[in-house]
Amino acid sequence: MEEQQMTGRRGAYNSAYIHWAKTQSQSRFNLATSGLGNLSIHDLRVSLDDLELTYGGYGYGPLLRKIAERYGVDASSVVTAAGCSFANHLAMAALFEPGDEILFEEPVYEPMLATARYVGAEVKRFQRRFEDGFRVSPEEIEAQLTERTRLIVITNLHNPSGVLTDDDTLKRVGEIAGRVGANVLVNEVYLETLFEAPPRTAFHLGDNFVVTSSLTKAFGLSGLRSGWIIANPELASQMWLLNDLFSATQVHAAERLSVVALQQIDELAARAKALMDHNRGLLNAFLDTRDDLEVVRPQFGTVMFPRLRSGETVTRLCQLLREKYETTVVPGRFFERPTHFRVGIAGDTDALEAGLERLGQALDEIKS
Ligand SMILES: Cc1ncc(COP(=O)(O)O)c(C=O)c1O
Repeated sequence: MEEQQMTGRRGAYNSAYIHWAKTQSQSRFNLATSGLGNLSIHDLRVSLDDLELTYGGYGYGPLLRKIAERYGVDASSVVTAAGCSFANHLAMAALFEPGDEILFEEPVYEPMLATARYVGAEVKRFQRRFEDGFRVSPEEIEAQLTERTRLIVITNLHNPSGVLTDDDTLKRVGEIAGRVGANVLVNEVYLETLFEAPPRTAFHLGDNFVVTSSLTKAFGLSGLRSGWIIANPELASQMWLLNDLFSATQVHAAERLSVVALQQIDELAARAKALMDHNRGLLNAFLDTRDDLEVVRPQFGTVMFPRLRSGETVTRLCQLLREKYETTVVPGRFFERPTHFRVGIAGDTDALEAGLERLGQALDEIKS
């Protein structure tokens, strides 16, 4: 499907990034992914007896309780959804009305912004500046806030930069939002890659926090589509009722598998953490050798977002990498920063090593 053909009844509502990821990101040395490589069903200790096909009601109790226990919340605050993607959609659909003003970080994970627009938001932006380490600045947010702001949206860790926002900063954002009765939506899908026990969540930072996450990025379980929202029980109920208009009930076999995965989460986490720590070291060593790149180096996570020091866009680099070097990274234009590209470190170590070598060759080539 061509990008220009993707205009449906509701015009330009689609995600250029997801379309690119599905059709053009694949390569022999794929550094475009942002999550742990996909596990196979054989990586989970699961038997057919663990599965069942059908279950009705508002969420599968054992799964809601597992998630609630993990984050120290009540099960009435948990809403499950198909991946963090649909968790974001459902949360935003419940958190504002069409025409409401919402404040989004920039640079941004584009599908989430596109979803907000699709749901009808009037979107305003606050900057996370490269020169400032992609930090969330409460002052920037405050400057954009109006009486009409209903929601402030942040990814933590930040996609694309991988930068962590600390609890004190988030608390300040929560207080600023509270002044106009707005909520703060924190997408924590990459926060899982801190592999803390118990994992932190911004939900505990104030009454107006809502968070989303999934088992996708840190655990290689994208195929389960196991996502969730944590919100206060009243909002959570509204989301369940709204979901009756969307998927109505969940895929029960996936709910069951998610419980199985959560029972084994510590082992899955230990393996993932070892791989990511090792691979991050490789990327840092590569970056040490490149004076043509400047980069904010996050301590955690699965991605980094270097910029060409020359100030050129990365179009030529990405094309050369793909066509000659069989390697892909994500062009920064998908994150509103065309002089950057995003490199993922959570894939296979051999592919990362080979991909980085090729990235170096392509960078040398565009210089000469
Ligand atoms: C910030 C962010 N949110 C959500 C998602 C999608 O997560 P899931 O696969 O669980 O739907 C991604 C995937 O790239 C992401 O980067």
